[in-house]
Amino acid sequence: MTDRIISPKKNSEEAGFDVALRPRSLDEYIGQDRVKENLRILIEAAQARAEALDHVLIYGPPGLGKTTLAHVVSREMGVGIKVTAGPAIERAGDLAAILTNLRQGDVLFIDEVHRLGRVVEEVLYPAMEDFGLDIIIGKGPGARSIRLKLPRFTIIGATTRLALMTAPLRARFGAVYRLDFYKEAAMLQIVRRSAGILGVDVDEEGVSEIARRARGTPRVANRLLKRVRDYAQVRADGIITRAVAQDALALLEVDPLGLDDIDRRVLWTIIEKFEGGPVGLETIAAALSEEPDTIMDVVEPYLLQLGFLDRTPRGRIATRRAYHHLGVEYREQAQPNLF
Ligand code: ADE
Repeated sequence: MTDRIISPKKNSEEAGFDVALRPRSLDEYIGQDRVKENLRILIEAAQARAEALDHVLIYGPPGLGKTTLAHVVSREMGVGIKVTAGPAIERAGDLAAILTNLRQGDVLFIDEVHRLGRVVEEVLYPAMEDFGLDIIIGKGPGARSIRLKLPRFTIIGATTRLALMTAPLRARFGAVYRLDFYKEAAMLQIVRRSAGILGVDVDEEGVSEIARRARGTPRVANRLLKRVRDYAQVRADGIITRAVAQDALALLEVDPLGLDDIDRRVLWTIIEKFEGGPVGLETIAAALSEEPDTIMDVVEPYLLQLGFLDRTPRGRIATRRAYHHLGVEYREQAQPNLF
């Protein structure tokens, strides 16, 4: 599942590639205009007061630039950044080690912040609120707690699952921003920019074909661009035209709306096995031998955005549009028998 060509999740090959393409300032960052404007104000105000930035929470589907934004913010603030992730901070001591190594104003980026353990979270609360770190010295009845003073720092938390964050943790972020799938114009600009940086020869129609199939997700766009470049080099004359992009993407099984095999299998399962739904996420996942979390995080957001899927209290439903896209005749969902 993680090796999907359109997977919005990072893979190891991309580590260096991502860095080269990553925008380094808010001016370079394309799209998400409202978030950028709010961040500009937040940054300018904090700088004018010579204060550390308030803690920032960024949420939204994977691949939209949460990590990139954290780097941009630290750069705009002129401070250092340390990068970690919720599951990597296993013990309170791990967090204490990270926090005591921060300098005044530094950003601590915590990816998957909804996956912090309870004990670690409880150490984080006073650290975020009062820049204090409570440590217990000694054991048993003689144990006492002392409070270490920390430099003023900024946590930038990122999550794909806001609903899984505990309320006390959420409450400690002074600014909360949602990233949405990118609009078409922004996607075109991103593909053009990446092609320029990578020195890829692509015409406007080639750009548009890649942008259209990248599910509003820059990470997917960059990955598709790279694969289509390979194809153009080996099977064509190195130039990405619409025809070259179409052939390359058809071979990669990415359809004109950017759906791949797993997206289509999810829709097929709902339509064919469960008569269009409603059917529970767990049931769909079991039928496909996939993890429910993966389906929820990386398949459903885009299907919902396309209006191919409805989430109802009784389960998922494939919409008329989904039938149409797959070329299946639409059947009204069976109505519950109320008599
Ligand atoms: N590359 C990936 N995301 C980007 C963005 N939002 N702006 C510019 N380049 C990007």
